Amino acid sequence: MPGQHDSTVVAVDGPAAAGKTTTCRALAKSFDLRYLESGRTYRIIAFEALQREIPVGNAQEITELCDELIVESRSAELLTSERYASDKLRAAPVNVAVSAVARIADVRRRVTSLIRLWAETQTRCVIEGRDIGTTIFPKAPLKFFLTATPEVRALRRVRQEHADTYENVLKDVIRRDEADMSRAASPLVAAEDAIRIDTSELTLDQVVSRMSSACRKRGLETSR
Ligand code: CDP
Repeated sequence: MPGQHDSTVVAVDGPAAAGKTTTCRALAKSFDLRYLESGRTYRIIAFEALQREIPVGNAQEITELCDELIVESRSAELLTSERYASDKLRAAPVNVAVSAVARIADVRRRVTSLIRLWAETQTRCVIEGRDIGTTIFPKAPLKFFLTATPEVRALRRVRQEHADTYENVLKDVIRRDEADMSRAASPLVAAEDAIRIDTSELTLDQVVSRMSSACRKRGLETSR
């Protein structure tokens, strides 16, 4: 049932390379939360589509692939599958293909169900993505929306991954933002009740510290 487990979820949404992963990991550690990177699942589907030469624009075939992967991984385990190395999932062709995969409503419905299923088994968790606080857990008691200028985000990603030039990464960030914001199925938008943090001028520690203080205010206890 949608929303049933919202009370255990901290939702962290925002555009590409806004610092969600690093800050979520820090929160997970401080507050003893299980962490889920929802974008990884869309990347796995895109990666497999490329491997199997299935056109990512073909919604029906991609949805069938998604079903196959869910069955193969025994349901929600697809979300946390260790079969896929991060560098493969973050390669440039996957960055392009993932936007097409993520706009398919039937795929989103399946990933949404998996995430809700996973969250049911967690005492408390932090989940990052694009639609966690809006579509997947609209009643989550604590939601963050992280942003930064595309230039700052591209620069951070280049420093972090060293995989591509600044110009290419900036283009990719802008292209993915546009794709995520303009799609019909759960577009990227801040939930009305999300705490918005523009991280352009903030250090990682400052962002984590703002998020942590909001967590404490909502009664989350730090782990010993
Ligand atoms: O790490 P980065 O912010 O670059 O991207 P990601 O979180 O790995 O997500 C990859 C892609 O998956 C995004 O560009 C979105 O198109 C899609 N995505 C989504 O549609 N909904 C989510 N909850 C998470 C990711």
